[in-house]
Amino acid sequence: MTTSWQLWRDRRGQLSTLRLATLALLLFPLAKAALQANEIAHGARPLNELIHRAGFWALVFLGVTLAVTPFRRVFRYGNLIDIRRMLGVGTFCYIATHLTLFFADQSYDPGKFFHEISHRVYLIVGAAAWLGLATLAATSTDGMVRRLGGIRWRRLHQIIYAIALLALIHYFQQTKADVTVPTFAASLFVWLIAYRLLAWWQETSELSTLSLLALAIVVSILTFIGEAVGIAIAFHVSPLVVLNTIFDFDAGIRPGWQVFAAGLAVVAVDAVMARWRGRAVRTRAVAAE
Ligand code: HEM
Repeated sequence: MTTSWQLWRDRRGQLSTLRLATLALLLFPLAKAALQANEIAHGARPLNELIHRAGFWALVFLGVTLAVTPFRRVFRYGNLIDIRRMLGVGTFCYIATHLTLFFADQSYDPGKFFHEISHRVYLIVGAAAWLGLATLAATSTDGMVRRLGGIRWRRLHQIIYAIALLALIHYFQQTKADVTVPTFAASLFVWLIAYRLLAWWQETSELSTLSLLALAIVVSILTFIGEAVGIAIAFHVSPLVVLNTIFDFDAGIRPGWQVFAAGLAVVAVDAVMARWRGRAVRTRAVAAE
């Protein structure tokens, strides 16, 4: 018999390495912050530093949660679905911490807290994403799935894409200088959503290696264009001038290249897994003869 708090056990009550690894991943930012506690405490704004860390990791885990669907297909590992809820609830825990720390930063004064949120656009956008995530967390239990019914539950959970968009806008808006990391994060989310759109368009659940390669190229090109347009608007220059510098690696590797490398890594994994599975099927067929 297993109880629901035993997160490291699967539905049959057996110890699950996958769940243990997920738990370790979810606790990693906490452990990192604990190890750096001294450095954080002596920094200029310790509370602000923690707000940033919690927000950053919430966004990372939101991305990892969205990656479960494509990755279970690319890795040919259907069991990954078992950790999706854990990742989603973990994301909410970080975002709840993000907001609690912000409340602490407003001296636990509800008046100040609501005044601050309602007077800053990036906080209104963050609050909308926050409420969306809270709704998804509240409806993530088995009881709520039963109560809502599969179709309504799935429809409601589609708001995850709007939440991701709002969270990315919030991230961009609060970034004061270099937007390289937010641009890379946005490009990864574009890949995750484009994967689903392509699979839906091709009426398949598993994209071919060639389709994954096309996806890597298209998302990378969109990232270069998006970044160039963003810089062009911010600095009043032509986007073509920015695009002309994509092969200039002196100033660092651009998000377009970073997402291309990530996309190629997925292509490589898919190609290896496709071969491996093909070989396993052939071996089984020979054994059955
Ligand atoms: C009411 C809800 C929210 C409030 C009040 C809030 C507040 C804040 C504040 C004050 C900052 C730091 C800004 C600065 O130092 O200038 C921040 C940064 C950030 N927030 Fe939020 N936020 C909210 C919701 C969210 C949500 C839902 C997400 C994502 C799922 C998110 C992700 C982030 C990220 C990624 C950063 C930047 C972290 C970094 O610098 O690496 N926030 N937020």
